[in-house]
Amino acid sequence: MRKIAIAMAKGGVGKTTTAINLSHELAMQGQRVLLIDCDTQDQVSKFLGVKPTYGMYEFVTGKNGKGKQVAKKEAIFPARENLWVLTGGIKLVELKNWLGEQPRKNRHTCLRNALIPKGTALDFLIFDCAPGWDILSVNILMAVNEVLCPVALQGPSLEGLKTFFGYLLSAQKQNKMLELKYILPTMFDGRTRQSFEIYTKLKRLFAKQICHPIRLNVRLSEAPSLGKTIFEYDQRAAGAQDYRKLARRLIDDGIQARQVPRFF
Ligand SMILES: Nc1ncnc2c1ncn2[C@@H]1O[C@H](COP(=O)(O)OP(=O)(O)O)[C@@H](O)[C@H]1O
Ligand SMILES: [Mg+2]
Repeated sequence: MRKIAIAMAKGGVGKTTTAINLSHELAMQGQRVLLIDCDTQDQVSKFLGVKPTYGMYEFVTGKNGKGKQVAKKEAIFPARENLWVLTGGIKLVELKNWLGEQPRKNRHTCLRNALIPKGTALDFLIFDCAPGWDILSVNILMAVNEVLCPVALQGPSLEGLKTFFGYLLSAQKQNKMLELKYILPTMFDGRTRQSFEIYTKLKRLFAKQICHPIRLNVRLSEAPSLGKTIFEYDQRAAGAQDYRKLARRLIDDGIQARQVPRFF
């Protein structure tokens, strides 16, 4: 099972848009995906047009807000074929408090321990992260081994990247498996010089991690208000083509990794 955090220190760079559309395309390609919303804004469920009763809080703590026991499977909501959601929202504030009250020894690994699935039920765990750095972000970076970092090809995006690398380095001290696997340029606008300049810089700095850019595409910003992914809203939009390409790369990387012979 691949465990991937979609994370970046800045907001508004396309994390949620990527998490939703990438997860849906992977699901449509037959991969079984659990998409986990780690932001208090609750956008994953809204963007997918679903209303789960329970989510992350109940999943990790085993209880609802009134102390009633909630089974893990009750918290996982089937959003599309092959795509399940663990919703976030305002209850994540309580979850962060709960995490803070756990014994110091396993405070940072509560999420990792809660998320060990039975057997091979899932192919991908995708975390849509919030921009800040707190106890929940640390838990996420302890629970994953790959990070996909969206970088908007607009504005002072490289500054956010520097801050984020600070977070990542401190997390890597505790999680040796954690790897910055993908840098995803987003909001690529072929009409502006800035987009090309940032993209060129990223290609030079991250030759291995760089992905094909996601173009600036108004269809991507329209789809969520209808509770649809880009593939349900406009199959032929540039955004749909770009996220299809990204999903293909992730699947291909998984196939290649399996083909590497193991000698030790
Ligand atoms: N490639 C894109 N083209 C056009 N609009 C986009 C694109 N990616 C994201 N958006 C829009 O930009 C805003 C911020 O994106 P979002 O995915 O919510 O970012 P984040 O999760 O990083 O805060 C949203 O309104 C979204 O619809
Ligand atoms: Mg978001």
